[in-house]
Amino acid sequence: MGSLRRPTSLPSFPKTIYKKFRHALSAGEASRRTGRGRPRVSIMPTPANVVPIGTARPKVIEFFAGVGLARIGLESAGFRVGWANDYEPDKHAMYEAHFRDAERDNDHIFELGDVFKIDRSKLPRDAALAWGSSPCTDLSIAGSRGGIRAGESNAFWGFIEALRSLDGARPPVVVLENVVGLATSHGGDDLAAAIRAFNELGYSIDVLAIDARRFIPQSRPRLFLVGAQNPPASSTEPNPELRPDYLSWVFSDPTLRTHRAELPTPPPSLTSGLDEHIEAMPVSDDRWWDETRTGLFVSSLSPIQRERVAALRRASGVTYRTAYRRTRKGVATWEVRPDDISGCLRTARGGSSKQAVVKVGNKRLQVRWMTPLEYARLMGAGDYNLTGARTNQALFAFGDAVAVPAVEWLGTNYLLPLTKGLLAPMTDRVAVVQ
Ligand SMILES: C[S@@+](CC[C@H](N)C(=O)[O-])C[C@H]1O[C@@H](n2cnc3c(N)ncnc32)[C@H](O)[C@@H]1O
Repeated sequence: MGSLRRPTSLPSFPKTIYKKFRHALSAGEASRRTGRGRPRVSIMPTPANVVPIGTARPKVIEFFAGVGLARIGLESAGFRVGWANDYEPDKHAMYEAHFRDAERDNDHIFELGDVFKIDRSKLPRDAALAWGSSPCTDLSIAGSRGGIRAGESNAFWGFIEALRSLDGARPPVVVLENVVGLATSHGGDDLAAAIRAFNELGYSIDVLAIDARRFIPQSRPRLFLVGAQNPPASSTEPNPELRPDYLSWVFSDPTLRTHRAELPTPPPSLTSGLDEHIEAMPVSDDRWWDETRTGLFVSSLSPIQRERVAALRRASGVTYRTAYRRTRKGVATWEVRPDDISGCLRTARGGSSKQAVVKVGNKRLQVRWMTPLEYARLMGAGDYNLTGARTNQALFAFGDAVAVPAVEWLGTNYLLPLTKGLLAPMTDRVAVVQ
């Protein structure tokens, strides 16, 4: 059992979360890849309010849809998104371009506008799942930390109001996705407030931290709150790969209604694979920076970083690294990641910058901005339709999005079995895990 006190900051992820992996592939993942076996769930009678077993593709309503990466992940897991909302026209344009063909044979509503002002009478009343990737701007460590009632992050309450308006037709399962900074924002008060809001609507909450790096070479830890009107039986084991120590207090707070579903262990974190996601580009492509700009890049590196890059340059064969810009004491400097994965892709908001790609080896060093295709690939959406999207529009959108395979894993191993009543229901156990 980990500490039951709320942490004020998040631990260093590599040390605390990644050290105890037991299985290379979860049962569900292995079953999906090989087509053999069954997901590790026990089949139980269907409780009230869940989609009957066998019903094809349970319906999802998707809040804060952005460019629809949650939709791609959920639909790969077996759901069908029937309604979506976001208020950014640029993201909506990309969403429309990507899903247009699918829309033709599917009845789907996209409501463009503020979540507080949506036409609630048009919300589907037969959804099995409500997904909300609410804005992280005021919760992220890189952002203002104003909290869940500040700025754009306050839109979370629009999600809650929409669910409240559904009253007797509320989806039996809900998900809130956000940055892991939500767990420590205002000393945990913001996470507790979010859980309480779902509790008041009749949902018990499970909290998971999943890093996209388990599936794709990008470090992108995210928090997923899974709410269930009919929660599954609670596991006595927290499964630290999914519920690290810094979340322990959530499950021991007697004022919160929570549960911990028994889930397979997700795949271990990747430590390599970036090069497979890099767009092939000739040495002469004019997207590579010129000599002067490359020289400025190198001269802004710290001595340790410069030596690291120089060693790679002397090596035979080509290596790719990602780099990002930081402002230290008012001076813009570049930092090159030491490993073979990408740093977390972000939007240009909150003081963070676009990522650059460094190609080094065979005595040559080249640098350029990461392309929209590379952003899409590193979000697990390599076949996203980018036709017509401006570069900054695409980078902004993907930097703000949720990684497809993390959603798909959650959908396959937790949400679909939960909506279909395939997880052992909570019966005589108390809702709060001690
Ligand atoms: C974290 S992003 C979610 C991205 C999405 N999951 C995806 O895959 O692209 C949050 C989204 O909330 C939208 N948003 C922020 N405030 C909103 C509001 N008041 N009403 C509707 N959408 C809002 C933003 O436009 C942004 O696309």
